[in-house]
Amino acid sequence: MARVVVLSGAGISAESGLSTFRESDGLWANYSVEDICTAGCLVTNRDETISFYDKRRTELVDKEPNSAHKVLAELKNRYKNDIAIITQNVDNLFEKAGIAHEDVIHLHGFLTNVECEQCQNIYDIGYNKLADVNDGKCTACGSEYVRPYIVMFGEAAPNYALLDQEIQDCSLLVVIGTSGMVVGVNTLAYFVERSILNNLEPSDAINDTFFDKVIYDKATNAIHEIAYEIEELLAKG
Ligand code: APR
Ligand code: ZN
Repeated sequence: MARVVVLSGAGISAESGLSTFRESDGLWANYSVEDICTAGCLVTNRDETISFYDKRRTELVDKEPNSAHKVLAELKNRYKNDIAIITQNVDNLFEKAGIAHEDVIHLHGFLTNVECEQCQNIYDIGYNKLADVNDGKCTACGSEYVRPYIVMFGEAAPNYALLDQEIQDCSLLVVIGTSGMVVGVNTLAYFVERSILNNLEPSDAINDTFFDKVIYDKATNAIHEIAYEIEELLAKG
């Protein structure tokens, strides 16, 4: 398993122009989680849910990775199996920065993919609205029950098992841009040899005393210090 685990949240994509969730101008300030991101919302509130993810998907088209994504992509491609890039984000900025999609562990789904609820076909619709690709019907079975490939609250999130695996013998955990409201980063930091936290400001859900190094700064500033530590650890072999 990887010696370095980098776990990111919405904060790492903030400087690329993507909204976070819980900051004052975040997504959850303007939308209700219950209405568009909770199990069952595709039955009770399908149209609003589909249009919420359509809007976020189409907005991705011109968003570029920032230097935090790029530095981590360079390190991942250089130390392939020694670094696990795990993200709560559903954007494709690590992929745009040069990491193969299969080398990014997305815990909460992937915005440019959709999934057929009839035959479980998962396919890429790029930056399009769901209804604009194959009339919104599954490209395999033709079913109209196609949904965003996003993990809603209360739904199964199978990739968390990969996080558990990767953290097992990790020497350095790096947490960047997450409030810790969903993934329990305190527990992760408590069990690893060394841990770094980078956020803009303290979070009620994170006990930063569990971390060996805490950097309250923009990820594009913090990434240099983080990269130095990763290189120092991995260059030792
Ligand atoms: N650099 C570093 N950190 C930043 C930056 C930045 N430029 N901008 C914001 N942050 C930090 C904030 O300090 C905050 O701690 O990013 C964090 C964003 O927290 P949230 O908005 O709660 O996002 P996240 O932790 O990713 O949410 C987790 O909740 O709603 C679900 O599925 C959704 O994946 C999401 C999950
Ligand atoms: Zn299908």
